[in-house]
Amino acid sequence: MASLTIRKLDDAVKTYLRLRSAKNHRSVEEEVRVILRELIEGREEPLTPFSAPPTPSATATPQRIGALPEASVTLIIGGGIAAYKSLDLIRRLKERRIEVRCVLTKAAQQFVTPLAVSALSHERVYTDLFDPQSEFDAGHIRLARECDLIVVAPATADLMAKMANGHADDLASAILLATNRKILLAPAMNPLMWNNAATRRNVTQLQRDGVVLIGPNSGEMAEAGEAGVGRMSEAIEIATAAERLLRPPMPKPLAGKRVLITAGPTHEPIDPVRYIANRSSGKQGFAIAAAAQAAGAEVILVSGPVDLGDPAGVTVKHVESARQMLEQVQAALPADIAIFAAAVADWRVANEGEQKLKKTAGSMPPLQLVENPDILATISRLADKRPPLVIGFAAETEHLIDNAKTKLARKGCDWIVANDVSPATGVMGGDRNTVHLISRKDGEIAVDSWPVMTKEQVAIELVAHIAKSATGKSLEPAS
Ligand code: C5P
Repeated sequence: MASLTIRKLDDAVKTYLRLRSAKNHRSVEEEVRVILRELIEGREEPLTPFSAPPTPSATATPQRIGALPEASVTLIIGGGIAAYKSLDLIRRLKERRIEVRCVLTKAAQQFVTPLAVSALSHERVYTDLFDPQSEFDAGHIRLARECDLIVVAPATADLMAKMANGHADDLASAILLATNRKILLAPAMNPLMWNNAATRRNVTQLQRDGVVLIGPNSGEMAEAGEAGVGRMSEAIEIATAAERLLRPPMPKPLAGKRVLITAGPTHEPIDPVRYIANRSSGKQGFAIAAAAQAAGAEVILVSGPVDLGDPAGVTVKHVESARQMLEQVQAALPADIAIFAAAVADWRVANEGEQKLKKTAGSMPPLQLVENPDILATISRLADKRPPLVIGFAAETEHLIDNAKTKLARKGCDWIVANDVSPATGVMGGDRNTVHLISRKDGEIAVDSWPVMTKEQVAIELVAHIAKSATGKSLEPAS
């Protein structure tokens, strides 16, 4: 039977599902199953029980490119006084764009309520192995597998003993036995329990089984006058450990390299209120900036007007026109690598009106166009400050490869990333791109055609090629 990963759905569909499931007091997965059942039984509800999620507008928060990938955790809260810290842990995980589904053991419910946990996680809370609502299709298996990581906090001595011995007599232990995901335990118990020979044996066994432990820390216990090793790690420490398991630190093959990138369209003024523009969204250039930054480069992004948030850790210079873009590019040199992803307007208006042009009956304003500076060609032909690797883009609607090869020679750059921007491809403004990397190899022109990818994937692939060429290093985490 096929399984569906909710977080891979479109944002609008996810928002719809979240709203609908919250309204019906179901988990998102349950809601999907209900929708499917209704469809199959022919009792389909109209697909608009609420107003549709707002479409992005000029006033909407700009979309951030290069943000963290989504991840999800099943958080098992065990029965200990430290359970109160797990409420903070839910918040800390969510701050890191990690979705959290919580399971409470029977004992945990003595310390925190399912209501509080559900309010913080914005999800239904699971407590019972024999819950007919979630177990009609083996809910414990889904909780065990439909996540990227299982975190147990607090991990009590009893829960660890059950895990070490493969028990499965309640929901938490059944999930832990049924999972094929990594498990992170945050033990919390009295120091005597932690040091007890049985717990020592269980910890050793669990570590042998590949379970990762964070803590326990030493300090004062909840029991008056007792201190020692057994305090659960702080929520922030557990969230950081979880994040490291979910998103292992990337190697930094571009560390020490300075990467200059242009992105977005340019606006060429006609008069103070009108301008010539194009449909470039800037998404591809911004994604490259984020990927280069993640690979350790110092990144300077010169961007035309776009509706995107600045990528974290990147120096962004915002410009309007081609001439301003060239100025900022020149000011940013020297650079080791320059990537010209901007859709620079080829022409600008020669005599930009100082006042708004008036509409006069029967006559058209005399718009004289002049050529803009070619930033890519200018930088490619610099005598001294030419970056060792200069990459241009060729957005074409026909004869893609031939035009791109001609452009490589005409502009004097080292590589061209060619993409088909015919309206039918949806590339302009869209999230996907099909590109061909055209480069010079031993005097020959090589064409490397990539499959259709998201713009983020194209960016990561391009940065991997750059890292290989500029440093011989790979982007792959060392295994
Ligand atoms: O000539 P065309 O616009 O097709 O060339 C595309 C490539 O040249 C892109 O890399 C673009 O960023 C760059 N370009 C430029 N300055 C211009 C025109 C294009 O840097 N005035």
